[in-house]
Amino acid sequence: MSEYTRNAEEILITKEQLSEKIKQLGADITKDYKDKKLLLISILKGSVVFLADLMREIRLPLEIDFMCISSYQNSTQSSGNVKILKDLSRDIKGFDVLIVEDILDTGLTLSYLIPMLLDRKPESLKICTLLDKPSRRRVPVQADYAGFRIDDSFIVGYGLDYAEHYRNLDYIGIYKESNER
Ligand code: IMP
Ligand code: MG
Repeated sequence: MSEYTRNAEEILITKEQLSEKIKQLGADITKDYKDKKLLLISILKGSVVFLADLMREIRLPLEIDFMCISSYQNSTQSSGNVKILKDLSRDIKGFDVLIVEDILDTGLTLSYLIPMLLDRKPESLKICTLLDKPSRRRVPVQADYAGFRIDDSFIVGYGLDYAEHYRNLDYIGIYKESNER
């Protein structure tokens, strides 16, 4: 494990900070979605850890679904290409849909996804992101719920990956390539 975490040693957000923030987000959502038909849509794979914790902090009846989208090809740069790898397994018409994202970066993924979901006639559509990098935005997308606003560094852990690794870290770390062997 020490070899594995060497490139992600610098902790940006601790496990405790994550859990405290997610409790708060859950409380806000609980207040706002009372008597609504809440459907959480998790964007795979990065947001799966966040979804699992967030849904347990929402004290309301709710349903979940998943969509898998790829925008990064094993690198730290956005390709600008968005592809649907797995679509939702149900009709979202009439649901109060809340998109659950790990991180809002350039905004390209969501700016592609939102019109597509609106076409399917949900009752409402909002965005909840754990992390927001506003300085990197290339298209105007705003989150309705945002956990942490962070500077522009490449981060891993708590669902976020570098080339599919590090998703299982229980903290959010700054990714740095180390030359040591
Ligand atoms: P956007 O389309 O540029 O907003 O990118 C959103 C997606 O890019 C996220 O759901 C992540 O999968 C990925 N991403 C953006 N920044 C980072 C990062 O710092 N670390 C890991 N993944 C990232
Ligand atoms: Mg990713």
